[in-house]
Amino acid sequence: MKRAFITGTSSGLGRGLAEYLSGSGWQVYGCSRRGCDLPDVRDRICDLTDYDALPVALDGLLGDLEGLELVLLNAGILGEINELHRTSLEDLKGIMEVNLWVNKAVMDWLHGWGRPIGQVVMISSGAAVLGNKGWGGYALSKAALNMLARLYGHEFPDTHITALAPGIIDTTMMDHLCEEADAERFPALARLRQARGTEAMPGPLGAAAKLVSVLPNLRDWPSGSFVDIREILDPDGYARLFGQRPPRR
Ligand SMILES: NC(=O)c1ccc[n+]([C@@H]2O[C@H](COP(=O)([O-])OP(=O)(O)OC[C@H]3O[C@@H](n4cnc5c(N)ncnc54)[C@H](OP(=O)(O)O)[C@@H]3O)[C@@H](O)[C@H]2O)c1
Repeated sequence: MKRAFITGTSSGLGRGLAEYLSGSGWQVYGCSRRGCDLPDVRDRICDLTDYDALPVALDGLLGDLEGLELVLLNAGILGEINELHRTSLEDLKGIMEVNLWVNKAVMDWLHGWGRPIGQVVMISSGAAVLGNKGWGGYALSKAALNMLARLYGHEFPDTHITALAPGIIDTTMMDHLCEEADAERFPALARLRQARGTEAMPGPLGAAAKLVSVLPNLRDWPSGSFVDIREILDPDGYARLFGQRPPRR
């Protein structure tokens, strides 16, 4: 039976991935603060930013395994959509903690564990490269996550690592983006609001199925690369989204 470890299995994409993979015959191991409600998932309640508790939780969850076919570093937070100059350093550090440093801590535990790992996918975002107004802390953290993947690519020579933007997904993260944030101040929100409720924004299970379908394709890129799922599944949409960069003056 193939084994996957997923962070952030209580809701959204992580829960969708856990449901999809366990429904496809995988043994899924997960962790989050609220816990996963899926009966087939072996899950630990764990605040990943508690760096004393984290290794203990990982020892208990994964310590006896001989290896993992797949690791999905999915846990993440959005923070508030706001101008960077209105965002406190404290808020920025909080986002970096979950979206970046937690993943370093998990990667270091996996390195010390030393068992075979087939593939690591760090869940990044188009925000890592789009640089839209208002996405401050989140965009910074995902850009740094892309570099984390590249750097660990050197240190896990037998594991294929990708930082993957999964496209837009209808999760609780979208509640703030589609219902609360100010669309007049932050024009990039319009695209998300138009997509919500259409097939352009799948729910967690649909997004999980798409993500799992591209896992073999990710090996077409060198380990450590940043890949946007739309490059593979929707090249026209990808060109439209990333072709918005203003021309040189
Ligand atoms: N939704 C989108 O359109 C979209 C687009 C691009 C990328 N992403 C990325 O996809 C990933 C999942 O996001 P989502 O949309 O599914 O949001 P979500 O529903 O809010 O899920 C976030 C998950 O992260 C976990 N998490 C957050 N802080 C944690 C902590 N300190 N310790 C342990 N677990 C923690 C949460 O669990 P607990 O709260 O129970 O701890 C939850 O399971 C994120 O990395 C996000 O940046 C999402």
